[in-house]
Amino acid sequence: MSKLFICDHPLIQHKLTFIRDKNTNTKDFRELVDEVATLMAYEITRDIPLETITVHTPVAEAEARVVSGRMLGLVPILRAGLGMVDGILKLIPSAKVGHIGLFRDPQTLQPVEYYINLPTDAVSRTLIVIDPMLATGGSANAAIEALKKRGCFHLKLMCLIAAPEGIKAVQDAHPDVDIHVAAVDQHLDDHGYIIPGLGDAGDRMFGTK
Ligand code: URA
Repeated sequence: MSKLFICDHPLIQHKLTFIRDKNTNTKDFRELVDEVATLMAYEITRDIPLETITVHTPVAEAEARVVSGRMLGLVPILRAGLGMVDGILKLIPSAKVGHIGLFRDPQTLQPVEYYINLPTDAVSRTLIVIDPMLATGGSANAAIEALKKRGCFHLKLMCLIAAPEGIKAVQDAHPDVDIHVAAVDQHLDDHGYIIPGLGDAGDRMFGTK
C-alpha cells in the first residue's frame, strides 16, 4: 500500500485557506499556489539520500553532505499542474520537467492522453506527478500508467487537495506510488468537484471560465 503524506505545516495550511477562498483573485491564487508548492517540495524531498564529500572552507577541510542518488523530474498534468512547477523548481532547480496532457472522453468519461513529452533520461529519475486536485483519481492514474508504460517506475504523486475517493483509486491501482497532499477533503459532489475544495483549479489559476 502506498503511503499518504499530509503536509500539515502551519504555513501550508494558512496559505491553503486563502487558496480555497472564492474571493482570492487570480494573481493572489497563483502566487499562493506557487508558495505552497515550494513548501511542499521541502516536505516531499525529505527522504532523498545524501552522500558525504570533502569541502574546503576558508579555514579548514570539512566532511559535508550533498544530495545524491536519483535525480528528480517533475511531470505536471496539464493544465492546472503547471501552476505548481515553478514553486518546486525554486528548491530543486536541477529537476527536469516533462508534461502530460489528458482530456476526458465525453462518451466513456475516461481520461485520454493527448500529449506527453518527457525528459530523455526520465526512466532514471524519480518523477513527481503533479496535479493540484486529486478528485476521482482518473487523471492521476492515467498519468502514472502513461509513465510506467514508458519505463518510469520511481514515481510520487503531489496534489494540493485530495478527495478520499481519489486517494483510494490511486492506492488501489498503484500501491507503489506515495501520495503527498496538503489536505484531504470530505468527498466529491455529483459533478466531480472536491467538497469543500477550491473550485476548478485550472480556471482559478489562469483566470478562465
Ligand atoms: N478538478 C478541479 O479543478 N477541482 C475539483 O474540485 C476537482 C477536480
